[in-house]
Amino acid sequence: MFWSVYIAFIITLSITGSTATSSPGLNETKWLDSRRQADAWVSRMNLTEKAAIVTGSLTGTCIEYVAPVESVGFGGLCLQDGPAGIRLAHLASVFPAGVTISATWDRELMSQRGSAMAAEFRGKGAHVVLGPSAGPLGRSPLGGRNWESFSPDPFLTGVAMDQTIRAIQEGGVQGSAKHIIGNEQETQRKRTVVDGKQVEAISSNIDDCTLHELYLWPFADAVRAGVASVMCGYSRVNSTYSCDNKHLLVDILKGELGFDGYVVSDYMATMSGIDSASFGLDMNQPGPMLSDLTKTAWGDNLADAVHNNLFPEARLNDMVRRVLTPYLYLGQNTPDYPSVDPSSLYLTLENFGLLQPWMPTPAGRDVRGNHSALIRHMGAAGCVLLKNVNNTLPLKESDITNIGVFGDDAADVTSGLVNPDDGFSIGTLGIGGGSGGGRNSFIVSPLEAIKERAREKGGITVQYITNNTALSSGVPGALYPWPDICLVFLKTWETEGADRESLEADGDSTAVVENVASLCPRKTVVITHSGGANTMPWASNPNVVGIIAAHYPGQESGNAIVDVLFGDVNPSGRLPYITSNRTEDYGEQAQILNVTGPAATESWAWQSNFTEGLMIDYRHFDSNDIDPLYEFGYGLSYTTFELASELSVSVRSGPVSPYPGTVPTNSTLALGGNPNLWKTVVTCSSSVKNTGSLAGATVVQLYVSLPQDDVPSGTPVRVLRGFDKVFLDAGETKAVSFALTRRDLSYWDVEAQDWRIPRGEIGISLGFSSRDLRRRSTVKII
Ligand code: BGC
Repeated sequence: MFWSVYIAFIITLSITGSTATSSPGLNETKWLDSRRQADAWVSRMNLTEKAAIVTGSLTGTCIEYVAPVESVGFGGLCLQDGPAGIRLAHLASVFPAGVTISATWDRELMSQRGSAMAAEFRGKGAHVVLGPSAGPLGRSPLGGRNWESFSPDPFLTGVAMDQTIRAIQEGGVQGSAKHIIGNEQETQRKRTVVDGKQVEAISSNIDDCTLHELYLWPFADAVRAGVASVMCGYSRVNSTYSCDNKHLLVDILKGELGFDGYVVSDYMATMSGIDSASFGLDMNQPGPMLSDLTKTAWGDNLADAVHNNLFPEARLNDMVRRVLTPYLYLGQNTPDYPSVDPSSLYLTLENFGLLQPWMPTPAGRDVRGNHSALIRHMGAAGCVLLKNVNNTLPLKESDITNIGVFGDDAADVTSGLVNPDDGFSIGTLGIGGGSGGGRNSFIVSPLEAIKERAREKGGITVQYITNNTALSSGVPGALYPWPDICLVFLKTWETEGADRESLEADGDSTAVVENVASLCPRKTVVITHSGGANTMPWASNPNVVGIIAAHYPGQESGNAIVDVLFGDVNPSGRLPYITSNRTEDYGEQAQILNVTGPAATESWAWQSNFTEGLMIDYRHFDSNDIDPLYEFGYGLSYTTFELASELSVSVRSGPVSPYPGTVPTNSTLALGGNPNLWKTVVTCSSSVKNTGSLAGATVVQLYVSLPQDDVPSGTPVRVLRGFDKVFLDAGETKAVSFALTRRDLSYWDVEAQDWRIPRGEIGISLGFSSRDLRRRSTVKII
């Protein structure tokens, strides 16, 4: 008895990490030194050189480029997409998408992904990663680019932004947090011309409170992490184009959040020529384009404007300083920084459909290192086990001699190693489309990995039908004998430039699942490769005994899912979004605004009013008591967990004021806003135990409920404010602790224009999902 208590005490002592990364991601002294050096360079440059540094140049071979200025030793900047690995590259890796890494809820993996990506970008001579993305945040589950970002929850996205940016920049490469802000749908994301009439882009009309508490939140984390650059988007925010939005870029981003790097335009998103520079834009990319010379060609135009007293030189100097400071801070001017990879030119041409058969296709430098192993590991960690009746999974190899594999997503790709524009052909989907996608150097399909596994074991038959057209009209009678287990692989194509039309997986997926399940009673397992939520009308079908949301795992897709199916990896992913079988449950905000008919070309059209405020995703479901299919934060394991002790909550000693007060005078940078916002006010602790017989990991989640009688109406009943991924051997217990900052416990007071901690009891809940809360407590701060 004594020994077991003693051992439990010792095990409990192994404290896991606390949640908040509250120290700024830049070394302030070094940053200020770099800024001084940048100023010294600025003072030696002429107007033409200064204007060139803030303008894209078509002389480069990267998707976006800034040409060198030799007089000061500036070597130029190569900016490359994107958020899941260097895109226009040969012999580079395709990493799991943002949504996949957020489904791991694993800070360490988020960071390792950032480091590995940085090594590849640097190896290819790229100075800037055009990512990570926190816009879209995921207001609508139909948003075409949600998968590039992390989660509709700002806290989870904020942590992922923070970890990714710190890791990328520690690897010597600049991050570019994109797209600020409200870039929540692809439909009419840009200004168009219809029958000669100019139609403005969608305007995301967001109130001040929603802006701060939801959409801006992860950008504050990005700035806190020291991000070098922020990309403004194509769409309008409150009727002003985001790259022209002075309130957003100057007052909020550079003022309130203390951002000291540069704002870069999205590709051809500079709307007002030189005026945009007055409104806060620091770099215009891709620079002069033949299609839009007057609007986007800064360069000499900007130099002339200064010369003619139409634009202040001090502001041009500020723009150049902002561009040069991170370049110098990260040591990108050193001679050992790799040159731009020679294959870059041809891949960029290929991207624009300009590569000709007579042109050379030189091999790129191989920068993949041993990243395959990490990608496989992250892919498995991003799998969320949603259903597992009678412990069907993991598959017991000893009992299985005959595996059925079904669905077009199981098969090898059939249209090349880059996703085709429609993504619908037979072949597995490892990543979505557009600039957030990648060029695979290989891709391991689920079928290939399952066959490999069967070959290794011997004596297993693998039967497969990967044609969804055939499967949706009934399973062809080619199977013999009936499989011991039927694995159905579904995919959902999501891409830049288009929103999803439905939440159902592609390829007549419902009929495919129902048909396979009818032939495989009580032994059908469905695996989805999607960038976000799906309806799963078959989830309650008793013949469907297992469901895994495998997200977009990148190039090692098949190996990652085989690791989970056969139990080499115990699944530990959790949903970073909510799911429902009724699209209408998501509320109005789930709809993509699509103006049709004559109104579509009116100048006042395309207004998307974010009237739901903070109520998106689980906040909307929880506050309106709507039952989800699988809730935010949900996921099963092959083992079980419980919270092993009470939740203890303590407030920082000494009086705490409702507002953060003035910015301390010793803070030059104040990255992410008032430094007081990042101070710990409340600490919470408990412990978690693996109560099963297998090692595994769980995610302990902390939700905060602000007192409804002292916050504005429309405040969600609870929001995520802490999580900790904990790895536990069978029977092991570990302590968990959470440090809640002032920002975590405040709401945005629009009148005071500041964060305010409300008066009264603040609820704190701890559990394993947003609906599985096992311990509750309250704390009164004010
Ligand atoms: C996308 C950006 C991307 C840029 C360069 C744009 O269409 O919106 O996210 O970085 O292209 O490829």
